[in-house]
Amino acid sequence: MCRQLGLLLLLSLSLVEAVSLCQRRKVVRTFNVRRNASSTSTPLQIGNGNFAFGADITGLQTFQPYGTLSTWGWHNFSLPTTPGQTSVEDYTGMQWWTHDRLVTYAQPNPAEDDISTWLIKNPQRINLGNIGFTFGAGTSVAESDLGQKTQVLDMWTGKLLSSFTYNSSSVEVETWADPDSDTIAIEVKSDLLRSGLGLFFDFPYPDNNKFNAPFVGVWNQTVAHTTSLEQTSRNSATIKHSLDHTTYFVTVTWEGEGAISGPVKGTHRYFFTTPAKNLRLTATFTPAPSAKNPNLGSVVTASRDWWRSYWTSGAFIDLSSVKSSNATELQRRIITSQYLLAVNLASSNPPQESGLVNNGWYGKFHLEMNLWNTLPFARWGHFPLLWRSLPSTYQRFLPSSLDRARQQGYSGARWGKMTDPTGRSAPGEINSLLIWQQPHPMYFAETEYRAFPNSTTLTRWDTVLSATADFMASFAFFNVSTGVYDLGPPMYPVSENTPPNGTLNPAFELAYWRFGLDVASRWKTRQSLPVPQAWTTVRDKLAPLPLHVNATDAKDVTYAVYEGIPGMWTDAATTNDHPAMAGIYGLLPPPSPTGGGASPLSMAALRNTAAKIKARWALEDSYGWDFSMLAMNALRLGDAAQAVEYLLHPIFQFDDAGYPVGGSRVPTPYFPNAASLLLATAMMAGGWDGEEGKHFPAGWEGVEVDGFVPSM
Ligand SMILES: *[C@@H]1O[C@H](CO)[C@@H](O)[C@H](O)[C@H]1NC(C)=O
Ligand SMILES: *[C@@H]1O[C@H](CO)[C@@H](O)[C@H](O)[C@H]1NC(C)=O
Ligand SMILES: *[C@@H]1O[C@H](CO)[C@@H](O)[C@H](O)[C@H]1NC(C)=O
Ligand SMILES: *[C@@H]1O[C@H](CO)[C@@H](O)[C@H](O)[C@H]1NC(C)=O
Ligand SMILES: *[C@@H]1O[C@H](CO)[C@@H](O)[C@H](O)[C@H]1NC(C)=O
Ligand SMILES: *[C@@H]1O[C@H](CO)[C@@H](O)[C@H](O)[C@H]1NC(C)=O
Ligand SMILES: *[C@@H]1O[C@H](CO)[C@@H](O)[C@H](O)[C@H]1NC(C)=O
Ligand SMILES: *[C@@H]1O[C@H](CO)[C@@H](O)[C@H](O)[C@H]1NC(C)=O
Ligand SMILES: *[C@@H]1O[C@H](CO)[C@@H](O)[C@H](O)[C@H]1NC(C)=O
Repeated sequence: MCRQLGLLLLLSLSLVEAVSLCQRRKVVRTFNVRRNASSTSTPLQIGNGNFAFGADITGLQTFQPYGTLSTWGWHNFSLPTTPGQTSVEDYTGMQWWTHDRLVTYAQPNPAEDDISTWLIKNPQRINLGNIGFTFGAGTSVAESDLGQKTQVLDMWTGKLLSSFTYNSSSVEVETWADPDSDTIAIEVKSDLLRSGLGLFFDFPYPDNNKFNAPFVGVWNQTVAHTTSLEQTSRNSATIKHSLDHTTYFVTVTWEGEGAISGPVKGTHRYFFTTPAKNLRLTATFTPAPSAKNPNLGSVVTASRDWWRSYWTSGAFIDLSSVKSSNATELQRRIITSQYLLAVNLASSNPPQESGLVNNGWYGKFHLEMNLWNTLPFARWGHFPLLWRSLPSTYQRFLPSSLDRARQQGYSGARWGKMTDPTGRSAPGEINSLLIWQQPHPMYFAETEYRAFPNSTTLTRWDTVLSATADFMASFAFFNVSTGVYDLGPPMYPVSENTPPNGTLNPAFELAYWRFGLDVASRWKTRQSLPVPQAWTTVRDKLAPLPLHVNATDAKDVTYAVYEGIPGMWTDAATTNDHPAMAGIYGLLPPPSPTGGGASPLSMAALRNTAAKIKARWALEDSYGWDFSMLAMNALRLGDAAQAVEYLLHPIFQFDDAGYPVGGSRVPTPYFPNAASLLLATAMMAGGWDGEEGKHFPAGWEGVEVDGFVPSM
């Protein structure tokens, strides 16, 4: 059977794969997630990147009200009524001295506390609703009342299969998501359907906490919102949910006999029951009334096709011939991360760190995380998923980013940070002073150009790159006493724990500025267009990367977090948060020689820095993507075993379903960990310029890889 399928594909697509369809399917299914109880921290999800449904052990949201989240479902609480703070326009921000002039930053203003807070907390992403089992009117059933609970998430097809017994009868549940609409398809087989087993639909109200995990919304503020039911045919009904200015619709369609009723007084609960032994139903969530919604059969077919195409069209790493538990665990993380990225991050807006599982930071997305979260689609051969949001979101946010720069007295476009779908960046000291998100468009564009080096790519990104480079060049400050261009102060570097008014020339940002301006300049040259002089002048005269020289050992030279940082390596504050110096050679390629002169990177300093981070950094407080960045740095420094050690570091945890554990500082899941693991492993599989090909630890024989373009 397997061979036939492979042959068919081979013949029909003339596809010659190093890792055959059969082998890919075997590897993927080896890591299918199996549970026999609900997790209290993560669901099992099905979804399409713009919409996802988080299920408990019943395959629905019966006992654990996990989220049904989308790219489009957002809500605002009402504006403050405080005099002078009743509209968004009343907010003015804060002025800080910036190189002898006052610049306005979007920071909370104590004199405008209510509107500042409103702008931080609004809009927030909403849980569109829950669907679960009901066991008959007046029957209260707990998960412990169910027997023989089993569940398997088949990542090869997108099927969630769950079964359990109740009252000695079996219940078998299949749950699917449609790749092409925001639809959940449910099939239930059970005799109990005739004696009271049915479905409920319930609708929570948003809450305004920064982190909504593991669940999103509150179920006890029923008077604050309304729902209504309209039966549209014998087999379909629409529930309309209105929360202040947000309204959306759930269209429920079923096959055969069935009835929907509700809401139960004082709640937003609706019930569906059928007298048949087989329930087949779909629920489509839409911001406007939906004209059509797909039936169960078409969702099942579309899901199977989409996932098979996802697993067979992209790049692949097969570690199954390596007899090591470390390789098996790395393979598990690779497979589950690929599944979870497609479900949670392949969206038409930049994804949030917790994807579509729950809300971190009110459900908003951080543009500095966009590189980690979205780049894997490019590196793993899934450009169509990258193109869902790129470069369109940068184009959409361009007018407000041009405004932001202009109001601050800079040229070009200054991208925001903690962002909602309108492109507004939430007030915050760090939000307004972080700068490492600025060159991301160059990284995306250059990666795309390496895969598709043609005029379509050049044209798509040109406007965004030009506006980005204009800002970067004008943000750099020419220091007449040193004769170089400085970055900051004020600013926050990647490690968000330095004093902003004293932070000058951080290592990673200087390297990234040089990279970004270099890409922007090459972009113009490739189009035979003139390169703005300011870009190359700033690129070539940026301050040198800051070094730290050990006072008692002149040969002990390392990179420093920023120029003049006190107590580098000895003060605990200097070895905490993100070790961004590992990014200048891990995430970034070495500088191209176009900038004139010798490479400004010192290999000795890079090696010493890597060794000192390993020995002294407070990695126990790190966010997980640090480990992937350290792994990429180790790879370029020639130590693949060290890279794997970082990717399996005890603080870098992935749960039984592959969700990256947030750790001490952020909620679970924290997807930049999974996404960055895919960037690091893509580099292991495909190598990088000058070192193309596989880079796995000694002794890992027989690794098969397929479809990788070397990294920059
Ligand atoms: C249920 O899962 C737990 C944890 O994975 C495992 O130890 C146990 O054997 C499982 N039980 C059954 C009946 O599969
Ligand atoms: C929330 O309010 C802001 C400011 O008025 C507006 O730009 C945005 O579109 C609103 N979002 C929602 C989901 O209502
Ligand atoms: C930075 O300087 C500004 C004045 O330009 C001041 O208002 C602000 O409080 C300072 N920030 C910190 C964190 O010291
Ligand atoms: C389960 O059994 C109880 C007790 O016999 C009965 O009241 C209830 O209706 C049954 N529920 C279902 C869904 O069959
Ligand atoms: C409503 O539910 C939330 C948890 O979902 C709880 O924190 C809160 O206290 C409840 N409020 C009331 C009024 O019961
Ligand atoms: C550039 O490459 C992409 C991807 O192969 C293709 O869709 C596009 O048509 C190409 N553009 C040109 C001008 O060849
Ligand atoms: C110029 O650079 C030196 C050394 O980095 C720094 O101490 C000084 O503050 C800078 N001057 C200005 C005006 O920023
Ligand atoms: C400086 O070098 C000495 C001697 O090798 C060493 O003991 C010390 O830890 C080093 N200091 C730093 C900050 O690395
Ligand atoms: C697995 O990795 C750990 C470090 O992450 C290492 O100590 C151990 O030796 C490795 N085991 C094998 C079998 O390679």
